[in-house]
Amino acid sequence: MRHAADHTISRRAALSVTASAALVGPGVLAARAAEDEDAAQHVPGAPISNFGEHSTAEEVTDGLDLTGKRVLITGCNSGLGLESMRVLAMRGAHILGAGRTKDKADAAFKALRAAGLKGGSFTPLACELSDFGSVAACAEEVAAMGEPLDVLMCNASIMALQTLEQVNGIERHFVVNHLGHFVLINRLIETVKAAPQGRVVVLSSLGYKWAPEGGIEFDNLSGARGYDPNKMYGQSKMANHLTVVELAKRLRGTTTTANSVHPGVINTNLGRHFPWYVHVLAKLIGWTFMKSVEEGAATQTYVATAPALAETSGLYFADCNPVVPERPEMTDEALAAKLWDVSEELTKPYLASV
Ligand SMILES: NC(=O)c1ccc[n+]([C@@H]2O[C@H](COP(=O)([O-])OP(=O)(O)OC[C@H]3O[C@@H](n4cnc5c(N)ncnc54)[C@H](OP(=O)(O)O)[C@@H]3O)[C@@H](O)[C@H]2O)c1
Repeated sequence: MRHAADHTISRRAALSVTASAALVGPGVLAARAAEDEDAAQHVPGAPISNFGEHSTAEEVTDGLDLTGKRVLITGCNSGLGLESMRVLAMRGAHILGAGRTKDKADAAFKALRAAGLKGGSFTPLACELSDFGSVAACAEEVAAMGEPLDVLMCNASIMALQTLEQVNGIERHFVVNHLGHFVLINRLIETVKAAPQGRVVVLSSLGYKWAPEGGIEFDNLSGARGYDPNKMYGQSKMANHLTVVELAKRLRGTTTTANSVHPGVINTNLGRHFPWYVHVLAKLIGWTFMKSVEEGAATQTYVATAPALAETSGLYFADCNPVVPERPEMTDEALAAKLWDVSEELTKPYLASV
């Protein structure tokens, strides 16, 4: 296991370089994100693991036999989804890998096999999250298999679209990152509940801090009244966690859990829409605060599989441990309930039941 002390310069010193070098935007925000991780507050009473910032997905699942477990991962062809798929398959799981197209998902798993992945098995799925018809069809395909789903990992995402894009009048980050997954959860929750101890794991982000005041701008879901890429990403990531808050409440009294994850700051394709200078900064100094992909996938694979978390629900995890989010909106149950209702309204024709 690697430790923070392995770095040859102090993380805080590097962060101040980052902060002064980057003018605005994701460079600074990423630096702040890493800095904020240092100040994370653990949740009283919740299980604490021995894993941390530099644990890898392989380490946190070491010794687990996931044979017979079925795990659906959205965005399985890239970054943290791909690494989660690799490691959970390596532990014996059957992966239902969702990409925008079946071919994309299939190619990703075949590439892992070609690179030496042993164990596990795989079914490719098409799930284009900006097309709720595609999401519903994906869920139907999974439900029709007639097998319980042990883990639903809502991992796919977009970030930092530099100009406003809408899908049917709604801003695209909110549609892809939140509403698409909202439909998927709605259509598959009974399949997850059919598992002995089903888990919904939703990728949030410390970027929730960039969400607008109040958390969700219900009167600007179109983005037309003002668009800022980081704010919109932050709003969608706050929505990811608020979904978990309301879902966990609805799942009380069942064996099914729902938790969200901040994976850390990792140089994946997520940054593809960043301005050029952020890419330059990431190349130059990203190593000082970024996790590797192997480390980045640790928290979500831990939350998806750790036996210690069988009864832990409704929490936000970072560095393989539950932490208290710093903004009060993240734990606002009334806001979570309102978001749920609004999301139902916006996706109604595609939901299993309302
Ligand atoms: N990387 C970080 O620093 C970081 C930090 C905090 C949180 N996170 C969260 O971690 C999760 C994984 O991110 P990552 O870093 O692994 O990003 P990534 O490498 O860019 O992977 C994102 C995945 O989402 C898929 N996707 C994007 N738009 C989609 C759509 N409309 N429909 C279906 N799938 C779509 C992508 O498919 P294509 O390849 O086909 O586009 C890709 O498979 C995200 O939820 C992200 O918000 C990441």
